[in-house]
Amino acid sequence: MASIMILVTVFTILFTIFRISQATSRTTTFHGPSIVDKHEQWMARFSRIYRDELEKQMRRDVFKKNLKFIEDFNKKGNKTYKLGLNEFADWTNDEFLATHTGLKNLTRITPSKVVGKTSSRMSWNVSDVAGESKDWRSEGAVTPVKYQGQCGCCWAFSAVAAVEGVAKIAHGKLVSLSEQQLLDCDREYDRGCNGGIMSDAFNYIIQNRGIASENDYSYQGSDGRCLYNARPASRISGFQSVPSNNEQALLEAVSRQPVSVSMDANGEGFMHYSGGVYDEPNCGTSSNHAVTFVGYGTSQDGTKYWLAKNSWGETWGENGYIRIRRDVAWPQGMCGVAQYAFYPVA
Ligand SMILES: *[C@@H]1O[C@H](CO)[C@@H](O)[C@H](O)[C@H]1NC(C)=O
Ligand SMILES: *[C@@H]1O[C@H](CO)[C@@H](O)[C@H](O)[C@H]1NC(C)=O
Ligand SMILES: *[C@@H]1O[C@H](CO)[C@@H](O)[C@H](O)[C@H]1NC(C)=O
Repeated sequence: MASIMILVTVFTILFTIFRISQATSRTTTFHGPSIVDKHEQWMARFSRIYRDELEKQMRRDVFKKNLKFIEDFNKKGNKTYKLGLNEFADWTNDEFLATHTGLKNLTRITPSKVVGKTSSRMSWNVSDVAGESKDWRSEGAVTPVKYQGQCGCCWAFSAVAAVEGVAKIAHGKLVSLSEQQLLDCDREYDRGCNGGIMSDAFNYIIQNRGIASENDYSYQGSDGRCLYNARPASRISGFQSVPSNNEQALLEAVSRQPVSVSMDANGEGFMHYSGGVYDEPNCGTSSNHAVTFVGYGTSQDGTKYWLAKNSWGETWGENGYIRIRRDVAWPQGMCGVAQYAFYPVA
């Protein structure tokens, strides 16, 4: 008898809790979740933790501004791409760019620096470009999307992805390679988390007679000591630059292999990009970021695009990728993608 009483009491309590929680959720729905709720939900989704209340307050203000920016942008509805809340939604644009890009020393690039460092005799005959579309992922030449973290070494990720691609195409095996080795050991001109450029990374890999695998020399997200005995997993014999300001030449190159590409990622919406074809007439040509072009195609509404692999994890963009408008009216390409592009030679 006593156990039945206990059971009834437990049931009553549970039912009461259920009603209260239902009522609470109804109230929340009626007023719409507050910015505090939205921020908490976002924090839970991306496992975000703050040092103290002060930091949380400050980050919530940034989150609120970003959320408004994203919602206003999407509400206009007249763009070919969308923005969304990814794991960077509590960073200001300036903070984000300062810590998540890292393309430097573009001034070091002159045509004479690159010419002659390749064994390839590729001619730029645009008439023999293969097909209307290409996706090197479907040919197994692209490793899963990586995340550079708060380290300005996009250049290393861009270069490594291009080497991973050409190695697979030339030797039939896809091996994930080491960005960390470039951070630690490629110090002649590149500066690890403080920036660098893909052409210097290729030069290092050539001179070092290869680059280690990701497994053997894993990513730490900060500069460290060079492990000189790292065993090379892939080699390249040279690299070449794609003729500048020529999207046709870039198409030719990407039809043959993944290509390292520099671009302007300064646009305020870029860090919030969540999908669609990035077509932003205001996007400039001041290259501060590097990605890897791993394909191209045409969207359902007929917009031509480049398919780019980024190094901001899989929550950014289309599972870590972005489609960027191709064949624009100006020679530098959308966001300057046709200005400085390189590909390694196996
Ligand atoms: C998109 O909408 C905004 C605001 O409604 C407007 O200022 C802008 O000119 C529109 N752009 C295009 C390409 O229609
Ligand atoms: C380009 O390719 C076409 C067709 O294969 C050929 O006739 C032409 O001579 C080539 N041009 C150059 C500059 O190689
Ligand atoms: C750029 O190159 C110069 C040498 O030309 C070098 O001293 C400098 O550290 C480099 N800077 C970065 C950020 O890579």
